[in-house]
Amino acid sequence: MPKKVGINGISNGFQAEGKLEKRIRTIFKLQGEVTPPGDKSISHRAAILNSIAQGKAVVRNFLPGGDCLSTLNCLRELGVEFKLFPGTPTTLEITGTGSRGLSEPENVLDAGNSGTSMRLLSGLLAAQPFLSIITGDASLRSRPMGRVIKPLREMGAQILGRGGDTLAPLVIRGGNLHGIKYSLPVASAQLKSALLLAGLFTKGPTLLKEPAPSRDHTERMLLAMGAKLDMDGPWINLSPLTSPLKALSMDVPGDISSAAYWLVAAVIHPRARVKVKNVGINPGRTGLLDVLKAMGGRIFLENQRQEGGEPVADIIAESSELTGINIKGDMIPRLIDEVPIVALAACLARGTTTIEDIGELRVKESDRIKTTVQEISKLGGRLEELPQGMVIRGVNKLKGASVDSNGDHRLAMTLAIAGGIADGETLIHNAEVVDISYPIFWQDLERFSSF
Ligand code: S3P
Repeated sequence: MPKKVGINGISNGFQAEGKLEKRIRTIFKLQGEVTPPGDKSISHRAAILNSIAQGKAVVRNFLPGGDCLSTLNCLRELGVEFKLFPGTPTTLEITGTGSRGLSEPENVLDAGNSGTSMRLLSGLLAAQPFLSIITGDASLRSRPMGRVIKPLREMGAQILGRGGDTLAPLVIRGGNLHGIKYSLPVASAQLKSALLLAGLFTKGPTLLKEPAPSRDHTERMLLAMGAKLDMDGPWINLSPLTSPLKALSMDVPGDISSAAYWLVAAVIHPRARVKVKNVGINPGRTGLLDVLKAMGGRIFLENQRQEGGEPVADIIAESSELTGINIKGDMIPRLIDEVPIVALAACLARGTTTIEDIGELRVKESDRIKTTVQEISKLGGRLEELPQGMVIRGVNKLKGASVDSNGDHRLAMTLAIAGGIADGETLIHNAEVVDISYPIFWQDLERFSSF
């Protein structure tokens, strides 16, 4: 029986409530406004960085999704005190323990389904002078951890894992680290952030270079909290802390990865105009907007502003005539989580779309190249799997069918939009998984479906 994980009445529904089958009908007209929940990446970082800061922080619009609750549960085991106030938006009040205030957990830490929790916390734990063990669900236990273990060991941490030190559970005995100069083998913000977290506690600086830029939320937040960090060309140079980070209260911007479903729904729907409000538009995350515009998507930004050191805007999307394009290279890290929904947009575009350089998708919550191709094909999409990519040929219409999320939240939401566009009814199995990043997704979809 899956175990129930809850904080202040907010439950990790994915683990608590069992299986859900969702029936999706064709959406006749898609019109209105929606405010997506707080950004998942920023919520994780606000919790983790404030947990080692000096003082109390109030984080408004914290994402109460399963992954961020996993991070909070791990932090509680490490002696961090916080309160989560349910509601829309949700508020997190968290009291920092200072640079050396975390305590050895009495039990195994559970990162659930969350790669971000496991990788970022591994970096933090590698610097702590105690033993910790971190595990996760079956999906997370199959995802590559060697990429964090190797450089953290080079920094002086002792880390062991299953599968020849490549898989969780991980056993970490941390402390006494030294800085490194390291070129990351993959453009991964999770790996970069793990090394930056460790680098706060080293003797000497940490220098990191990425093969392509990935999201920089950790760097922005560290700077706002008083860390010394320079960007010198492609190199990030972090100095170890000489005094604790300052607690950072903030409003978390809405998650562009959640906004993505409504933006794509609007551009592929024949009768649509949607305003998605309060969306984070960090340039490391806006690949979807660039790609949709390049395909002919009618996308407009309004009310651009800054919040918590991050750029934010309202985004309007309207019915459009899309044309297939080629997507690859440095664009990929900027839309890494949006590939399934981009694939859906491509299915309803004129001509052929190719997406290259997405080998990383094979080690996400599911093998997203395989599962995206397989499930959208059931609805009549013409998608072809390549070792590191996909080829998508446009069709005129999708047709309702029985599909499966494969335990992957981003695929579940992509299939829901596909079902809303398709003729006839679609049945999505294992639909509960949307709780991981967008707990009120079904309510938001329901509001649009009522027109
Ligand atoms: C994330 C980084 C990305 C992304 C994930 C969240 C983060 O993973 O896919 O959903 O918050 O740093 P990688 O860094 O492994 O590409």
